[in-house]
Amino acid sequence: MLKLTRSAAAALLTLVAVAAPSLTLAGEVEVLHYWTSGGEAKSVAELKKIMQAKGHTWKDFAVAGGGGDNAATVLKSRVVSGNPPAAAQIKGPAIQEWAAEGVLANLDTVAKAEQWDSLLPKVVADVMKYQGSYVAAPVNVHRVNWVWANPAVLKKAGIAAMPKTWDEFFAAADKIKAAGLIPLAHGGQSWQDLTVFEDVVLGVGGPKFYQEALVKLDAKALTSDTMKKSLETLRKLKTYTDPGAAGRDWNLATAMVMQGKAGFQFMGDWAKGEFLAAGKVPGKDVLCAAAPGSANAFTFNIDSIAMFKLKSADAQKAQADLGAAIMGAEFQEVFNLNKGSIPARLGMKMDKFDDCAKTSSKDFVDTAKTASLVPSLAHGMAVKPAVEGALKDAVSQFWNDDKMTVATAMKNIAAAAATK
Ligand code: GAL
Repeated sequence: MLKLTRSAAAALLTLVAVAAPSLTLAGEVEVLHYWTSGGEAKSVAELKKIMQAKGHTWKDFAVAGGGGDNAATVLKSRVVSGNPPAAAQIKGPAIQEWAAEGVLANLDTVAKAEQWDSLLPKVVADVMKYQGSYVAAPVNVHRVNWVWANPAVLKKAGIAAMPKTWDEFFAAADKIKAAGLIPLAHGGQSWQDLTVFEDVVLGVGGPKFYQEALVKLDAKALTSDTMKKSLETLRKLKTYTDPGAAGRDWNLATAMVMQGKAGFQFMGDWAKGEFLAAGKVPGKDVLCAAAPGSANAFTFNIDSIAMFKLKSADAQKAQADLGAAIMGAEFQEVFNLNKGSIPARLGMKMDKFDDCAKTSSKDFVDTAKTASLVPSLAHGMAVKPAVEGALKDAVSQFWNDDKMTVATAMKNIAAAAATK
């Protein structure tokens, strides 16, 4: 659990300074999260409002850094020093690891009282439970396999429709390049590279191959011709990004699309949250489509808040109220209207949501029936954090080293997948 990847270890050195212990007061709920971009901050502010209305004090513990790598590092240092926050944004298999350490609070009382079992799809509830008990509450379902586009850029470049295949994508990218603009907005962190990689693997290989390679980590799939083709496609994509991508945050890449400097971005639908926060309208100011080749599949990324064991009764009450607030219909609607995602809670009306969210909601249900609903690797849903970290490093090294051969990358990725 406490094994750090190379990048995480480096981050710890710079972040440990901000992780100094502070006492959690009764009735106060300290929430560690990494929602700091425009759309993200607006979303989390809604939870704060609800908790304050219930009479609790919200202590914001925001650790900047998209994808949450920095936040995970800071959280480890807080827990190791015996001073966990009341709640933290933790998801996927990491929930299981934290629960196995014995530090997470059992939320079954509030879950039973509020009937979480009947309010959540099984695929969501399963992630929130450890040994049959709730230890986390889901705030949303993000879809990762999206491509976003600026319609004005597409028009200028003479592109009639969103690309449905990788060939169509590259043809469109060539046109944007010819029009003097950047085809693909991309940032400079390894999680962003891994996000594009998983889109490519899904689009090139389909959901069954994705499962074999990136969820089951099957060695044969990881060294197959399909993986070779995926890496060749990834390498080609890189040539359509700009040289300024190094170190760039994801939301700044989104801004490049928004401002008409770039045509496309591959990113989960938190990118839509940026457009919404800027007053833009999906379908008009920004177009969404499933990433090429993946219209019939859905990579899910469920954000959730896990609670840590605290001694004081007031603190426990605040935690139960936080769990109830998260699962409440009011929060699930307003949070997701801002965040770009869809509610995790079943039976929610979607009439206030935009067309991209409506598509997501329908596809979430449909893909679950055809085994095409797959967990996102890059967003902590598919494999243990240590394996994800190793894969992130391996894919990012390939992305950033134009001289590395596909064969070497494939070997490195297979080795990373074998991380214990
Ligand atoms: C994802 C997370 C989203 C969003 C994004 C960028 O991993 O699930 O909620 O915050 O990272 O930070």
